[in-house]
Amino acid sequence: MIYNFDEIINRKNTHSIKWDAGELLRKFEITERFDEDTIPLFVADMDFSCPQPVIDALHKRVDQRMYGYTTHATDPEYFKTIQNWFARRMNWEFPADSIVYSPGTVHALKIAVRTFTNPGDGVIIQRPVYFPFTNVIEGNGRIVLNNSLVNNDGYYEIDFVDLEQKAKLSSSKLMILCSPHNPVGRIWNQGELEKISRICLDNNIVLISDEIHGDLIRTTETFYPIANVNSDDKIIVCTATNKTFNMAGLHCSNIILRNADMREQFSKELGMQMPSPFSISALIAAYNEGEEWLEQLKVYIDKNFDFLKNFLANKMDKVKFRIPEGTYIGWMDFSGYNMDPEEIHNRIYNKANVVLEDGKIFGEEGINFQRICIPSPRSILEEAMNRICTEFKI
Ligand SMILES: Cc1ncc(COP(=O)(O)O)c(C=O)c1O
Repeated sequence: MIYNFDEIINRKNTHSIKWDAGELLRKFEITERFDEDTIPLFVADMDFSCPQPVIDALHKRVDQRMYGYTTHATDPEYFKTIQNWFARRMNWEFPADSIVYSPGTVHALKIAVRTFTNPGDGVIIQRPVYFPFTNVIEGNGRIVLNNSLVNNDGYYEIDFVDLEQKAKLSSSKLMILCSPHNPVGRIWNQGELEKISRICLDNNIVLISDEIHGDLIRTTETFYPIANVNSDDKIIVCTATNKTFNMAGLHCSNIILRNADMREQFSKELGMQMPSPFSISALIAAYNEGEEWLEQLKVYIDKNFDFLKNFLANKMDKVKFRIPEGTYIGWMDFSGYNMDPEEIHNRIYNKANVVLEDGKIFGEEGINFQRICIPSPRSILEEAMNRICTEFKI
């Protein structure tokens, strides 16, 4: 089947966090302006239809006419489907009993913080990074240890000397790795992953790798699951259908935790969590039959990135931008304008009426940056960029 990613599907008044965001954005003081004409490119979800097999599976589920208490635990197909996906696509194998369902990835990170650290302990993250990492650490009374990434002309790298120093601190107990990294878009290579995991294991730091963007990489790139680089069973990996198949509203993450003791502790803190009947059906359909859609999607996203790169190079060449290796997130450096970040915000959010995310949300390393999520029909992206460009000509 050929999918049409150019199709514009109206998401207004559908309870979309992205398209019905006005109240939320005002509440969290992200932006004041949000109206009928706003183009929101801030939330990491896609404006594309899900794969047809997922839609069909959900219809079938609806037609059963009852949506009572549900469990995945007794269905070997649920586990086999997940195992097959990662074995087939990433050559990564793990036993069925290492899979722990969580209603969300961020929720799983919170549970990991609570399970493997105590209040006052340090948790290593690498800013600029997806801001809920900070929330799950500080919200649970733990301390952020920031192994700030090094920006080499838009290509971010890890300061391993600093990472090792942070790992050696007696307070340091956990590291949350973002792989591929949101927002800087790096796919950590095997050498980097090897070093990260060695530093953590040598210093008794529990390592949890958030690989939720692992399927969403450029067609020319290869993703390396950390568990393939270091086979130590104590490394925890977060996977999800949420991002890959645009089903975040179905809340389905699966955490791979091979060490039995750690799994028991984690599961105890997590409590009994069961996916909805819809998330089970959707996951099975997506992982078994969604590959064709995903491959076409990746080509479309590559082209959106090509569009963005060319647009910036031709019309806004003061913005530094590099196509990310992974994720559908663009990280644009506006420092070339020598403008107050408030004014950059004002021009994009208030004047152009486009909602992105101010880079400072991801840490002070993000000041002067804007994060843009580009998995939308190209015409929407084009309109947003034209509007932004107009405001920067003045
Ligand atoms: C790195 C990363 N982790 C987790 C999430 C959210 O995952 P979930 O909806 O499964 O909690 C996101 C969403 O943008 C993300 O970028």
